[in-house]
Amino acid sequence: MYQPAITGTGVFTPSEIITNDELVAAFNAYADRMNAENADAIAAGEMEAIQHSSTEFIIAASGIENRYVLNKSGVLDPEVMAPILRERSDEEPGVMAEMAVDACTKALEQAGVDAAEVDAVLCAASNHERAYPAIAVEIQKLLGCGGFGFDMNVACSSATFGIQAAADMIRAGSIRKALVVNPEICSAHLEWRDRDCHFIFGDVCTAVLLEREEDAKGPHFTIRSTRLATEFSNNIRNNNGFLRRTRNGHMQDRRDMLFMQEGRKVFKQVLPMVSAHIAAHMADEGIAKEDLKRIWLHQANKTMNDFIGKKVMGRVPTPEEQPNILQDYANTSSAGSIIAFSKFSEDMETGDIGLICSFGAGYSVGSVIVERKFV
Ligand code: COA
Repeated sequence: MYQPAITGTGVFTPSEIITNDELVAAFNAYADRMNAENADAIAAGEMEAIQHSSTEFIIAASGIENRYVLNKSGVLDPEVMAPILRERSDEEPGVMAEMAVDACTKALEQAGVDAAEVDAVLCAASNHERAYPAIAVEIQKLLGCGGFGFDMNVACSSATFGIQAAADMIRAGSIRKALVVNPEICSAHLEWRDRDCHFIFGDVCTAVLLEREEDAKGPHFTIRSTRLATEFSNNIRNNNGFLRRTRNGHMQDRRDMLFMQEGRKVFKQVLPMVSAHIAAHMADEGIAKEDLKRIWLHQANKTMNDFIGKKVMGRVPTPEEQPNILQDYANTSSAGSIIAFSKFSEDMETGDIGLICSFGAGYSVGSVIVERKFV
């Protein structure tokens, strides 16, 4: 068995930012227009008026202040309320592959590794822009990696599930180096016309490079242990899929073909699941609360992270111990914990132990215990 390590990380951040105030102004303009157009139906009680959104609610309920998106103008146009992305020919790189190349290149540079040395590319994300060929195979070609690539989807937990899959292949010796990349275009499966969720998501792409520890050329994180768990739930669901055209009326603009959630239930059910998962993982690895120097959590909601952080550490963690990036990026699905890990880990010292944890639809939860090492 070989020892896997994370030797590089990379983050691609889109250039366009939407603030809460901009988002709320666009949503409220949309609501006013819809309510005016349907004034008779609303007066007759056949339709409910759309309520305004508010920045105060968004901050209090989620902690989110801004989100990065691939296209701002479409999202903020009350006539459109969705990102508009240029149509690409089959000969051009796909959008996900293009984001992935940026993030992967940064991870490879950090590790001092040439793309040709990589044996496996795992594109692990909560949605894929086409059914096939796999996005990972396109990324493999664009970067010039060897070996193979495949796509996987475990929603918000995709990154940690991808890390376990790659780490296990390195442990077993079937590969030496792998890129796990998470291009998340959440703006394209978010219903921007629904005030309950219109503030939740943003776009980003993260990548981690995993290698045999003996190959690491510089500072890195040994993967001490990984653990995954799933438990079926409909409380976060998106019904869009290839059977859509087989069902009468399913090609229409239907609410259930985008992200849907029962936010309160998610809160109540996922928090104990995640807290128990992390506690059991740490106990089985002989890691006490006071041994943990840092936790990089899934970035969905500040209150959720505060709750989990306190359970895991046994006290309120400092912002340095539990860094949040959701105020700047919003929820970026599987990429969130990896953004936090990438941006807030370089200062760690030899022997420091940290835990990456992502969770979400499925339900799913994945944890990765890492230890800082220097060559
Ligand atoms: N502006 C103003 N008011 C709003 C609003 C908005 N944008 N959106 C909802 N409201 C209203 C609701 O209609 C509700 O009103 P009511 O009490 O009169 O019915 C009230 O605010 C509370 O709404 P609720 O949905 O219960 O808020 P919440 O405190 O649960 O926060 C979430 C909503 C989504 C932020 C929260 O539930 C959450 O984060 N859940 C888990 C998210 C998660 O991790 N999901 C995983 C996705 S990967």
